[in-house]
Amino acid sequence: MIKLLFNVSPELYREYRQPILEALRRRNIEAMTGLPGDIAPEEIDYVIHATGGPVDDFGVFTKARAVLSLWAGVEKIVGNRTLTQPLCRMVESGLRQGMVEWVVAHTLRAHLGMDRYVCQKPLAWEQHVPPLATDRSVTVLGLGELGSAAALTLAGLGFRVTGWARRAREIAGVRCLAGADRLPEALATAEILVAILPETPDTINLLDAERLALLPAGSCILNAGRGSLIDDTALIAALDRGQVTNATLDVFRTEPLSANHPFWSHPGVTISPHVAAATRVQSASDAIADNIERAESGAPLLHLVDRALSY
Ligand SMILES: NC(=O)c1ccc[n+]([C@@H]2O[C@H](COP(=O)([O-])OP(=O)(O)OC[C@H]3O[C@@H](n4cnc5c(N)ncnc54)[C@H](OP(=O)(O)O)[C@@H]3O)[C@@H](O)[C@H]2O)c1
Repeated sequence: MIKLLFNVSPELYREYRQPILEALRRRNIEAMTGLPGDIAPEEIDYVIHATGGPVDDFGVFTKARAVLSLWAGVEKIVGNRTLTQPLCRMVESGLRQGMVEWVVAHTLRAHLGMDRYVCQKPLAWEQHVPPLATDRSVTVLGLGELGSAAALTLAGLGFRVTGWARRAREIAGVRCLAGADRLPEALATAEILVAILPETPDTINLLDAERLALLPAGSCILNAGRGSLIDDTALIAALDRGQVTNATLDVFRTEPLSANHPFWSHPGVTISPHVAAATRVQSASDAIADNIERAESGAPLLHLVDRALSY
């Protein structure tokens, strides 16, 4: 019998406890679970974690073999100095599919100029024929679990896709660039720029005034990574001068976005309240159970966070 601590809110505990127990049972693993205070910390085998969980000091879990995040983004926990256990991010099919759907929807919306008709004025019979996807260049920043799936799907729709990451990648139909010195090249062709990068010391303010100025005039930005990737003030300036015509933002430096933030009233900004991709309970429970099964059988954990890189 293994012991799982849920370092999550009581609501998430209610949502995830049973599906995770069932996923473990399907793998012949019996477990007991609890919230902080229910089980002695030194007896815990695995910690299931979500941002906002009540425990900050992971040093008390002296025997824990891993901390398993329910979320893909780990920027709020990765720098915790008490965390000496292996930390695993959430990678699961529902999250991936959700992100692909969000990116495809907003890329097509930008590509086809759909806002023009959705926000139509009466009697405005104005036809605008967009180019075909084969004549539209899209750049995806971040080619990890989510970015590579989005880039592959966009390429499948016929878009000219450039992808950018830290290390060299190969994705069918995608021109892959790697490293900081290739970023200007990735931005220069980005009629539609899709950001799906994690927040790390290297990515904060990656899209500053200088980099935004490298985008083609009239480009659109979709940010589904983290709000801190883009300098808010520089983005507003780029929108005001028409360099960027629309920014669809799913993530923000402070969430919920404060009522007085200029994004709310800017006509070029579409606000999507951190809904691009949600962790799905069933597939996420299977992902957690898979990793526990691996650890119990001595196999290496999947989706380990590299502390030196912060993702
Ligand atoms: N909006 C939402 O609803 C939502 C939902 C889930 C996740 N997210 C966000 O999406 C992020 C990405 O998730 P994921 O699962 O795809 O992460 P991942 O698998 O860890 O991939 C991260 C990607 O970013 C690249 N990268 C990191 N630092 C870089 C740098 N300094 N320069 C260039 N490329 C860099 C990585 O490059 P390498 O390939 O070279 O390692 C990798 O391709 C998460 O961290 C989270 O912030 C948002």
